[in-house]
Amino acid sequence: MSQSLVTGGAGFIGSHLVEALLAKGDSVIVIDNLSTGFKKNLASVAQSIKFVEGDILKADLLELLQDVDIVFHLAAISSVQYSIEKPTDVLQNNVMTTSKLLEAARIAKVKRFVFISSAAVYGDAAELPVHEHGMLKPLSPYALSKVWGEQLCLHYWEQGLETVSLRLFNVYGPRQNPTSEYSGVISKFVAIMREGKQPKIFGDGSQTRDFVAVQDTVRGIILAAEAPLAAGRTFNIATGTSTSILDLVSAINNVLQTQIAPVHIGPKEGDIKHSLADIRLATSLLSHSPALSFLDGLHLLVKQK
Ligand SMILES: NC(=O)c1ccc[n+]([C@@H]2O[C@H](COP(=O)([O-])OP(=O)(O)OC[C@H]3O[C@@H](n4cnc5c(N)ncnc54)[C@H](O)[C@@H]3O)[C@@H](O)[C@H]2O)c1
Repeated sequence: MSQSLVTGGAGFIGSHLVEALLAKGDSVIVIDNLSTGFKKNLASVAQSIKFVEGDILKADLLELLQDVDIVFHLAAISSVQYSIEKPTDVLQNNVMTTSKLLEAARIAKVKRFVFISSAAVYGDAAELPVHEHGMLKPLSPYALSKVWGEQLCLHYWEQGLETVSLRLFNVYGPRQNPTSEYSGVISKFVAIMREGKQPKIFGDGSQTRDFVAVQDTVRGIILAAEAPLAAGRTFNIATGTSTSILDLVSAINNVLQTQIAPVHIGPKEGDIKHSLADIRLATSLLSHSPALSFLDGLHLLVKQK
């Protein structure tokens, strides 16, 4: 049994991670400033965790990390658009939280630090699927904040702290904010099509994403904290399969048993056309591969909403 600190634990992915850690018998501390997270995301586990409502940049981290074995650092402002409008805010929040936490984790002799990075570090990659040693092309302050977070993790790994960075792709599942630029489209389309309305697709709908269920993502995050060979490395956490937005509409029709046709509107400026992960490293070193098909994941989303 380990004691874990989950930063951003009241967020979409963080709250699923907290549930999974408790289910395997760990004890969990959450710190969250509720800037984009919600206390209600942790309602089912509120009695079983220690919840610290506050900002990482203002907290006494050494006190927080007393007796903590593993840090899962998910807290971030994760909007690309907001980061373009307010670059300093996002860099300050995302880079400084990581830097402060890593330094405190080193001093507190934490066993492992799992940093949640993003596929955004690859930008509009020339070659697909993207693998961990491929070129990075961060196209926004948000993506840059993740590149620097990964670099900070490598720096602390050199100093003896076990760090692992995970580049998550387009995570979807219950409790996702429909405005999320990652997979908010899934929650949004499900809600619209449930009401019998037509979803609006930017462009021709041939753009593709590597959509990964939150349940599979969380399994990957926990394996990264446990796998002996993971420390000092960076992994893609995804499915290795691509789904177009047109495929998404058909899959939702399949799950809801509807036959709704989408409406096409003009393409979205700056939208990346295709994103697809090479997941061989996570498969071999973390023994992680997705257990849920896209349809299974959608069924769970529709059922639990
Ligand atoms: N959702 C995805 O598909 C996706 C894909 C790639 C990477 N990520 C990364 O995964 C992590 C979690 O994403 P999410 O979708 O659950 O987002 P989210 O916004 O739901 O969760 C982030 C949480 O961090 C908290 N937070 C932010 N700054 C904080 C601070 N300074 N102090 C304390 N708490 C703070 C927020 O209140 C929120 O609860 C983020 O780091 C994000 O960049 C997400």
